[in-house]
Amino acid sequence: MGLAALLSLSACFHDEDLTPLPIVTEGCLTDVAYEPARRLVGVYCADCHAQGGHNATHKDAWGHAIQLDTRQEWLDGKKHLLIRLQPAVATDEDPPVDVMPQLSFPFQPTQAERDTLIEWIKRGSPNTVSGFE
Ligand code: HEC
Repeated sequence: MGLAALLSLSACFHDEDLTPLPIVTEGCLTDVAYEPARRLVGVYCADCHAQGGHNATHKDAWGHAIQLDTRQEWLDGKKHLLIRLQPAVATDEDPPVDVMPQLSFPFQPTQAERDTLIEWIKRGSPNTVSGFE
């Protein structure tokens, strides 16, 4: 194998390890008035679940799993979102599913940030600045 081929082979493997760039608040839930949801989903989910996400493999999620570009998609995903946002619930599924964001993702929400999203979902994700009706 020539040097060029070796180099392109290693470049190819390297691509798999590229740390995704967070798109942070842009391009997800754009029609949502509740800023904490836009911001948290922007940091922790949009890379893989928004159309403009930077994750090299985001198509695996955006194309085949849930899309989080709009509030309607968020509302439609309620059941799955509640499972995936709670680590204990995700591992309790039969078979277990991956908690979101995946543990390999470099940006991990705090428990308080998870709770902000979970509680907003449980309130029906009201589209107000306060996140309450
Ligand atoms: C690094 C990429 C990545 C990040 C970041 C990420 N996800 Fe995912 N997500 C995926 C992939 C890939 C799948 C499909 C595989 C699976 O079901 O586990 C998925 C599946 C899901 C599902 C299941 C959809 C279904 O129909 O069953 C939900 C819900 C979900 N993600 C929500 C989220 C939320 C909410 C966040 C942010 C808190 C997030 N994801 C962050 C890649 C990601």
